[in-house]
Amino acid sequence: MKTVFIGIAGGTGSGKSTFTKRLKEYFGDNLTVIYHDNYYRRRDDIDFEHRKLINYDHPDSLETSLLIEHIKQLKNGHEVEGPLYDFTQHNRSDKTVLIKPCKVIIVEGILVLHETQLSELFDYKIYLDADADERILRRAARDIKMRGRELPDIIAQYLSTVKPMHNLFVEPTKSVADIIINSALNEAAFDIVKTKIESIIVSNQD
Ligand code: CTP
Repeated sequence: MKTVFIGIAGGTGSGKSTFTKRLKEYFGDNLTVIYHDNYYRRRDDIDFEHRKLINYDHPDSLETSLLIEHIKQLKNGHEVEGPLYDFTQHNRSDKTVLIKPCKVIIVEGILVLHETQLSELFDYKIYLDADADERILRRAARDIKMRGRELPDIIAQYLSTVKPMHNLFVEPTKSVADIIINSALNEAAFDIVKTKIESIIVSNQD
């Protein structure tokens, strides 16, 4: 079985999770999602207060080499134990996630198109676009609800690291994308991606 890899990048709050979750719900066991976020580095060497201050929008905060290694193993038909990140602790959890080879694997994250060594492993590269005001509103709501954050900290982090790193490292990766989608809520775009994945799955029948 050949696994087709699709990279989905886009700024924080662009709706990557919603878009990929809908695809996962539709394709079930034929599709797996790997979150680059789970590859944020383990930082047991510093305490919580210091971990809060890390620049999580800089490529160095992620262990992308491990993700690349895992994708290569999956391409060779091997399953891998992927890491799991705990946003409430700003650290990797002790739990892992079993990732099995699958017909289609989506790799999602703000920086999945940043490093050539990673992006060249993708058969299709998608960039999910959204206006910055919509992204920060979605992020604030999500971080308060799901990631145990408070609004003043979200604002401070956005202005000091999230926004400048987005302009420096995330936005420029639009140029390497095969497809740029103007909104995670664009039904026609969702349908085109869904139809493409359907055809990949059908042509890859055992
Ligand atoms: N991040 C954080 N604290 C950490 C680790 C990461 O606040 N300990 C933030 C980074 O600042 C980065 C964001 O997590 O901007 C990446 O996740 P994001 O893209 O927002 O979430 P997804 O659900 O993957 O995507 P989307 O919002 O597009 O659905």
